[in-house]
Amino acid sequence: MNADNASSRIALITGANRGIGRATAERLAALGATVVIGARHRERGEAAAASIRESGGDARAVALDVTDQATVQQAAEEIEERYGRLDVLVNNAGISGSGNAAPQDAVDRVPSAVDLAVVREVFEVNVFGVIAVTNAMLPLLRASDAGRIVNLTSHAASLTLYADPQGPLAGLPSVAYSPSKTALNAVTVQYANELRGEGILVNAVAPGYVDTEINGNTGILTPEQAAEHVVDLALLGGDGPTGGFHSADGPLPW
Ligand SMILES: NC(=O)c1ccc[n+]([C@@H]2O[C@H](COP(=O)([O-])OP(=O)(O)OC[C@H]3O[C@@H](n4cnc5c(N)ncnc54)[C@H](OP(=O)(O)O)[C@@H]3O)[C@@H](O)[C@H]2O)c1
Repeated sequence: MNADNASSRIALITGANRGIGRATAERLAALGATVVIGARHRERGEAAAASIRESGGDARAVALDVTDQATVQQAAEEIEERYGRLDVLVNNAGISGSGNAAPQDAVDRVPSAVDLAVVREVFEVNVFGVIAVTNAMLPLLRASDAGRIVNLTSHAASLTLYADPQGPLAGLPSVAYSPSKTALNAVTVQYANELRGEGILVNAVAPGYVDTEINGNTGILTPEQAAEHVVDLALLGGDGPTGGFHSADGPLPW
């Protein structure tokens, strides 16, 4: 990662009021980027942006619920008016469908017992929300000389890993979250293919098991550790990869 690459970059991070999204915003801001904190509750976004400014960073908040097209469009208009372009989009907002339960307690995701409304809700945020935000921001990313899109996926997205009966994921039922992230990986490749010729790089990154509310704070990595890899992909040079499924330990199997 090239820190010089961060200065003068404009970056939008969805779900940036807490967790990995917030740590990503803080890291980008510390490297000199201007960060736009997307938060579905504007006051939570404002608080995160104010904290970054107090640390010397350049941050502002936009109200952005990825499932609410009006807020998505409004956020794009605000970024257009203020900056005229977007260099980095981090599609970070995500839900598990199991509240803030640890993965082993997420019994509502057992396939035969799942509430279909939960599956729909998870796909709304983790998949359809990413498409909605990406399409709204694409005109602004096209106005950048180095557009980068990073999608927050998961090891649990890997069909190869969860199809292995002996593997660690086979005993962790997840009929909403895992398939939503598998779909997100497919969406990532689709955008990468479309945008390759325009120099916009689109990648998915699995942050590992991170100590945040999504898993009831059972994770073992800090949000700051996870943010390192997100930021590396957000600041890729023009010869960087696109359409990849990345982790801290290298590429993951689809
Ligand atoms: N933590 C892990 O171990 C782990 C592992 C693999 C992948 N991930 C992925 O990493 C990403 C960040 O998760 P996290 O661990 O930082 O979880 P988190 O602390 O629960 O943060 C999730 C963020 O997403 C926001 N969000 C949820 N629904 C939204 C919506 N409809 N519109 C806009 N924002 C919304 C939340 O906002 P509110 O505060 O308003 O709820 C919050 O800011 C997610 O995509 C997650 O799937 C996490």
